[in-house]
Amino acid sequence: MRWRERGAPATVAGHETTTRHAGALYPFLHESGTGIPGVLIGLDLLGGAFAYDPFTLYGAGLLTNPNGIVFGQIGRGKSSLIKTYLLRQLAFGRRAFVVDPKGEYSTLAEMVGVEPVALSPDGGVRLNPLDLGGIDVGDLRARRLGLLAAIVTSSMGRELAPRERAALEAALDQAVGSTAIPTLPTVAAALLDPSPAAASNLATTPAQLLEDGRDVGLELRRLVAGDLRGMFDGATSPSIAADSPLIVLDLSALYGTAALGILMVCATAWLQGLVRTAGAGGEQIIVVVDEAWAVLKDLAVARWLQSAWKLARAWGISCIAVLHRVSDLSAIGGDGSEARQLAEGLLLDSETKVIYAQAPGEIDAAARFLDLTDAEREVVGRLGRGIALWKVGSHSSLVRHLVAPSELDMVNTDAALLQR
Ligand SMILES: Nc1ncnc2c1ncn2[C@@H]1O[C@H](COP(=O)(O)OP(=O)(O)OP(=O)(O)O)[C@@H](O)[C@H]1O
Ligand SMILES: [Mg+2]
Repeated sequence: MRWRERGAPATVAGHETTTRHAGALYPFLHESGTGIPGVLIGLDLLGGAFAYDPFTLYGAGLLTNPNGIVFGQIGRGKSSLIKTYLLRQLAFGRRAFVVDPKGEYSTLAEMVGVEPVALSPDGGVRLNPLDLGGIDVGDLRARRLGLLAAIVTSSMGRELAPRERAALEAALDQAVGSTAIPTLPTVAAALLDPSPAAASNLATTPAQLLEDGRDVGLELRRLVAGDLRGMFDGATSPSIAADSPLIVLDLSALYGTAALGILMVCATAWLQGLVRTAGAGGEQIIVVVDEAWAVLKDLAVARWLQSAWKLARAWGISCIAVLHRVSDLSAIGGDGSEARQLAEGLLLDSETKVIYAQAPGEIDAAARFLDLTDAEREVVGRLGRGIALWKVGSHSSLVRHLVAPSELDMVNTDAALLQR
């Protein structure tokens, strides 16, 4: 590390030292970096290169979970960071799964030689979100129910009543009894035509059970026969290569619509099944949910996402969510509410925080939620494009993200704006 800025007048003789020694000499002022190998991210503004790898950091005990959250105002370079990070990780044999609401990861996919999975109503590609791969049997029923409840709650905009929840459970059991891997149509059909056995298990009649579950069944039909049909309503399309190093789920056909939350729930559920199967084989996988801010307002989706984060930790995979502001988390409920607890849980389960510039009105919330020091708090209001504060466990670094010339096309999201 060199203290004197290049080109600055030489009033004091320059002094060179390692970041490790500087960290020891100036505790609380100067971080010494993690010293753990990883993929290159860019330059540490206090000197040297900055590398990051959640798996090696976890292995070295510097992180207690491998998940991360990226915060930043529009256009600061969040997605650029993720794209280059994934490309660099893929070079080391890691796999990556991306939920891509804006459809901007196609160049990355092209560079890796894979096709994004573009989901749109009746678009010809289907994922079965109830196909949860190798999840342990006891857990499987609970995960499927969680998923179904998230879809219906998000779609109806209200919590399920106890009768509705019981009807949903009965329908799932009925569907599982008739096919090895249930699909949304088989569950919807069971809701609208409950068997006598399902009814007698709940000490009721089929007619009453039908009444109890009718609204839930009709909501699920939205994904089967309604405006969201043809994406999640059948077995997963064989054209999707589950063993591909990179899987990009392009949800841009419904970006900006109220259905995005449901789509993201189904997409992450399907990815979880895949992750579980691949993770059991010892593969190291990075799962990214870009534009996660757009769906966190939805309690059902936030609930689902947080459970995915928790599971990720148990499975040893690394999940990354991209948000705009810390208040995307803090605004999802009042103090002590379930929504607030979910948001805080997501933060607790993400020990890596990458913070790009925050608007002045956001800095207090950022400082509070992210435990920023006074110096960090001051700096996050003034960061230029491509520069972020990285908080990795107990380490903090200011990092300028470097984009290689060969990566420029992949990160450029300004083309449309600049052409105009
Ligand atoms: N480190 C960097 N070096 C050079 N250019 C960069 C860098 N980071 C981002 N850019 C450029 O800035 C533009 C915006 O970047 P990006 O799309 O990653 O922002 P974002 O934070 O994801 O925005 P949004 O919130 O709208 O999704 C891109 O055109 C990209 O080329
Ligand atoms: Mg982006």
